[in-house]
Amino acid sequence: MNTIDWSNLSFGYMKTDCNVRSYYRDGKWSEPETETSEYLTLHMAATCLHYGQEAFEGLKAFRGKDGKIRIFRMRENALRLQSSCRGIMMADVPTELFERMVLLAVEKNRRFVPPCESGASLYIRPLLIGTGAQVGVKQSKEYTFLIFVTPTGPYFKEGFKPTPMVIMREYDRAAPLGTGTIKVGGNYAASLRSGEKAHEMGYSAVLYLDAKEKKYIDECGPANFFGIRDNTYITPRSESILPSITNKSLMQLAEEIGLTVERRPIPVEELATFEEAGACGTAAVISPILRIDDLSENKSYEFSKDGKAGPVSEKLYHKLRAIQYGDEPDKYGWITVVE
Ligand code: PLP
Ligand code: COI
Repeated sequence: MNTIDWSNLSFGYMKTDCNVRSYYRDGKWSEPETETSEYLTLHMAATCLHYGQEAFEGLKAFRGKDGKIRIFRMRENALRLQSSCRGIMMADVPTELFERMVLLAVEKNRRFVPPCESGASLYIRPLLIGTGAQVGVKQSKEYTFLIFVTPTGPYFKEGFKPTPMVIMREYDRAAPLGTGTIKVGGNYAASLRSGEKAHEMGYSAVLYLDAKEKKYIDECGPANFFGIRDNTYITPRSESILPSITNKSLMQLAEEIGLTVERRPIPVEELATFEEAGACGTAAVISPILRIDDLSENKSYEFSKDGKAGPVSEKLYHKLRAIQYGDEPDKYGWITVVE
């Protein structure tokens, strides 16, 4: 434990003291249990293994200068998990159970919440899987909901330094009427191949276009997209992107600092007009974009000439972090303090 180098954490898994689990059987959720094992025993015909009945969430807890631990917008994550449950026919996890289990997982692993000055945080990963045996394509009657936590640093190793991203028109992440708006494992499986290719070519992430027409910006593999132009925060409206809680928060903060907010389809060519661009999400926070290369069109859009984040992205980043770490008052009720 003394050996954790808090300031140099990456976005990776580290074993903590315990995880928290609840089981759905006979139409009811069990009382949450803490479990020290990192393993699950599963039936080989469980629906999560064969038919993708799996959804997850991602949220964070932050230790402030005052030593208090703050969890960011956990109710929103509970609601989004419920939307994923409806999307792939899984038993709904009630908000109250979700919140109780998040709090328990953080309380029991307090010593893994990084110190304030490290800039790191505790990543909380709720996971819901279908555990009942089925061979026919059908939803399970039994589910396991578990939450583990792990201390993490920045998702992109460059942190707040702008990185290049890439459009690869030969790959899609999610279909317009498919599962793009919910947080299910299959979307991430679909992004692995293009993601790996992008990394090999030196890009930090793939920026997907809408799968139907390839005309509009959708989102990155692990984060939403936004652009800044003329004091306006512009972010896609699409049938195939995840409703990011970070993006929703940034839209509110953007209005607070006097920007206009536009949520609408963004044609790819509009990239040429943006003064700044970024990816946003729980893991990504704000990851400013250096440049976007549209490979098959042989086009390149540059957002940072000096390799630094733009002033609006910087302002939004600091404002969001200030609320998360408790340096600014929580005027929107986004924070739950862990007592
Ligand atoms: N888009 C995708 C595909 C993601 O995986 C994530 C991460 O959760 C986001 C966007 C950002 O969402 P949030 O801000 O709620 O973490
Ligand atoms: C998150 O930001 O919480 C994510 O889930 C992104 C990625 C790690 C899947």
